[in-house]
This record gives sequence, C-alpha cells and structure tokens, in this order.
Amino acid sequence: MFLTKEEEKIYEGEYGEAKASMMRLLVAIGEVYGASKLIKPTNAHVSGVSYKTIGDVGLEFIEGLAKKNAKASIQSQLNPAGIDLKNWSKLNIPKDFAKKQIRIISAYEKIGIKALCTCTPYLIGISPRISEHIAWAESSAVVFANSVLGARTNREAATTALASAIVGRTPFYGLHLEEQRHPTHLIDVKVDLLNELDFSLLGYSIGKDLRTGIPFIRGIKGEIKNDYLKALSASIAVSSSIAMFHIDGITPESNMEEKDNLKNLEKISITNYELKKVNEELSFTNEFDTVCIGCPHCSINEIKYIAEMSMGKKFQKRFFIYTSRKVLELAKKIGYVSLIESAGGKIISDTCMVVSPLESLGIKSVLTNSCKAAYYLSSLCKLKVKLANLSECIRYAVQ
Ligand code: F3S
Repeated sequence: MFLTKEEEKIYEGEYGEAKASMMRLLVAIGEVYGASKLIKPTNAHVSGVSYKTIGDVGLEFIEGLAKKNAKASIQSQLNPAGIDLKNWSKLNIPKDFAKKQIRIISAYEKIGIKALCTCTPYLIGISPRISEHIAWAESSAVVFANSVLGARTNREAATTALASAIVGRTPFYGLHLEEQRHPTHLIDVKVDLLNELDFSLLGYSIGKDLRTGIPFIRGIKGEIKNDYLKALSASIAVSSSIAMFHIDGITPESNMEEKDNLKNLEKISITNYELKKVNEELSFTNEFDTVCIGCPHCSINEIKYIAEMSMGKKFQKRFFIYTSRKVLELAKKIGYVSLIESAGGKIISDTCMVVSPLESLGIKSVLTNSCKAAYYLSSLCKLKVKLANLSECIRYAVQ
C-alpha cells in the first residue's frame, strides 16, 4: 500500500508508539482488503464504549492508549456507554459497573474523543455530506450514513474506528470507492409498510435473505420518514453484513441507476409473510414487565409522539426511552420530558437498553419496537422479548 512520507513517519513511531500501533493496524487492514492507499476521513465514530461489552480488557486497552498520550487527530465521538452518565445513581446501576464505565469515558476523553454517547450522531448535527469520507463503527449509523446521507464509510470495527480517530486516516477500499457502491440485488416490497416496526422487520428480513451485498429496495408506498430509515438501517445491519442500501429518491446515488442494470440483478420479493415470520422469530413472550424504546436512539419527533400519546395517562409498566443527551435537553426545554415523567416514563441518555446492565435491574421481559433491540436483548442480555410498534407499545403499557 502506498504511504506518504508523513504516514511512513507515523508508522515508524516518530509520533509515538500509540499512534504507530494504530497506524500499523490500519495498514494491515488495508492490505488485507487490497487498499491502494490511506485517505483522510473527516469524522470517526467510535464504538466499544460500554463496560458491559468491552469488560476489563477493553478498559485497560483504552486507559493504556490514554497513558501513552494517544490523541485524536480528527473530530470523533463515542457510541452509547453502559450508563446514563449524569443520572446513573438514580437508576439502580451497580456501583462497580458505573465506576469502571466512568474510567472508560475519562480515558476516551483524555484521548480527545467526545463523549456524546449516541448511536445517532446524524440526529445531533454530525451529518456528513454526500461523498464525504468518514470512519464509523456503529453499524446502524454506518448504513444510515451510506444510504441516506450519501457519505462513505465501511463498517468499521471498534478498534479500526479508534485507530482512524487517532491517526486521521482510513484505508481506501470497499464503500469508499464509487464502483463498490452499486446495488447487487433488487428487492420488491409487496407489502404496505405502516410504521417504524414494519421498516425494522423489512430490514431484518432483507438482511436474512441476502447476508451481504447492496440491495436496491423498491415498491415502498407512502411517506418514508427519517425515523423509518433509522429503523431499517439498524435492523438490516443486525441480520447481515450489509452496510448500504439504495432507495430511489432517498439514496443520493440512486439517481445513477440505469433501469437496464437493475433488470440484471437477482430479484427478491418481500411480502407480509416474510415480515410476519421475522416478527415470530424475534418475539418470545406475550408477557412483559418493561417497555424499551430508542434503538437506535430516539429522535425528537419520536419523543414528541410518546409525550403526546401518554398525556394524562399512567404507564402500568416500566417505560424507558433512550436518546442522546442533546435530544434529551431539547425535549426538556419543549416540555416533553415532564409530560412523559408525569405518566411514569423515564428518558435515559448516554446509554441504551442493550449496552446497559438492564438484566441486573430485575427486568425479565421487554416490549420493544426495534428488531435490533429484540435480537440483542434475547441473545446478549438473555431477556424475553416481544415486538410491537410504538403506538401499540404505549397502548399496552397504559392498559
Ligand atoms: Fe443504538 Fe444500542 Fe440500538 S447502541 S442501535 S440503541 S443497540
């Protein structure tokens, strides 16, 4: 792989051992994937933040980098942590867990990575433009960035996104290359998609069928809200290694599609049957003691909807809503938070239902509107899960 003089100096350790080790990792990955060179991304989104997922080994690794004086050289921010950084003590989080989580955040901050702790940076002003190269590690955000924003990123691992943050480079391969961003499969949607759960089921179902590639999705009728695309981006990445889809009129590059090219692609139809099958596959219970909304983190519109729907009502179950701190502050200002809290709901920021120690709070079964949450809550957290759309979640919770 071609390296500039400056990159060679970094590689050889002239700017310190920490930066050199991160550079060597990027070069090794680039060589595996046949990258011709490194490019400069404008932003890095770093996952591997929750103590629940990275444990003591991860904590020591990040503290080690911070001690060696590693510094971020581009704008970069963190994915959700394992706790609400301001309010964890009110949420019965085990103290030992919280202490270690705070050490992880401090180490990342020392490196210069902003503790925004959200999986939806694109909802809080970090919204790369068309063709902008970035290095993001949160799979739901990766798919959204490539497919909706038209930015360019591979599905980075926690370590490679961190390396890009520190070195300010990413290997030039995969979805950074224009010719690698064309659709490989044609998906005909033959079912009406009415809400965020339907889009989430669609994404999971496409991912299960394809496992890899770039689907061109057509046939969606009606309004396609940003929140629906957020749900689709998250679920398609859970059941596959897909990092990008095309939807005509949404994906900036979908204009370049020649109809003739699409005709040559392998075609798959998604009907109500496929969506029902996914729903059955991910729903294990009819009982639930907690409702969790916000995978990926809620937008202000979703919080507005919950606030309006819960006005004057009382939740009969725990009702947790996860979002970024910035959206939470906005929701507070507008008055949504007090409406939700009067109904007995809680809005939690900096973390989410999957990466926080939900199972240690005595929770056994969860109702959610996200296939990604359903998948991880049952596989990683060993909880029972039921799927329902947002309006049903609210209705069931106030019964
Ligand atoms: Fe975000 Fe957590 Fe879901 S990081 S995409 S809310 S699993």
